Amino acid sequence: MRKKIIAGNWKMNKTFEEANGLINEVAKGIANKEFFNKEVVLCPPFLYTEMAADFADDYNFSVGVQDISQYPMGAYTGEIAAEMARSVGVQYSIIGHSERRSYFNETDDILSRKVDMALENELTPIFCCGEHLDVRKADKQFKVVGEQLTEGLFYLDKKDITRVVVAYEPVWAIGTGETASPLQAQEMHEFIRNQLAGKYGEDVAAEIPILYGGSVKPSNAHDLFIQPDIDGGLIGGGSLKSQDFLQIIEAMKDE
Ligand code: PGA
Repeated sequence: MRKKIIAGNWKMNKTFEEANGLINEVAKGIANKEFFNKEVVLCPPFLYTEMAADFADDYNFSVGVQDISQYPMGAYTGEIAAEMARSVGVQYSIIGHSERRSYFNETDDILSRKVDMALENELTPIFCCGEHLDVRKADKQFKVVGEQLTEGLFYLDKKDITRVVVAYEPVWAIGTGETASPLQAQEMHEFIRNQLAGKYGEDVAAEIPILYGGSVKPSNAHDLFIQPDIDGGLIGGGSLKSQDFLQIIEAMKDE
């Protein structure tokens, strides 16, 4: 049975003290919950990952980074290597978020190298894909997402693809307050699972979690999460307040 995942992507938010408070509140909020098949992942900025990992040792959540370098450790000023993230207890890395693709010119080629670095260092990539508004208006969203998967992931072999989590994040729904409807999201998730099945077989595709991201909030989380191919969420703004994030975690049924 594939895992359900609720991951909080804090982006570039929170001072040290605020981060400490938020991690504490989330950790305590889920401390008494028995998760059967659900994992909570916090992805704070790099600076706070060690603090989050210290908490995670005592509580039932995992820690991810929002990005990693495409390079191994060495002379790359300002970069953070996957091996370094792993060494402080990080378990996941978001890769290919649309903000990285757009503002930092991350190409499919760079992203596939980041996926390799993650896997080599035992980090689970949360590989993001999703279309811009003009693409959806032109009804080319399946073509674009299909290409992102082919270029960024489908060079992996069967063994490695099962170590990946996919996140569908329509760019027009990120931080805009506009969410894909549950049926729009399900339609794309089903497409992604079919692409995975076409390349790797039904059994493999059935095991890969596909998360939805884009203005998930307590009020819409349930309707999204009950869709058959939506296995959780990558939550931006909704992960910055503990009460909202805890409600979103609760909305993902743990069966
Ligand atoms: P949002 O961001 O929930 O604020 O729309 C999601 C994301 O970018 O991962």
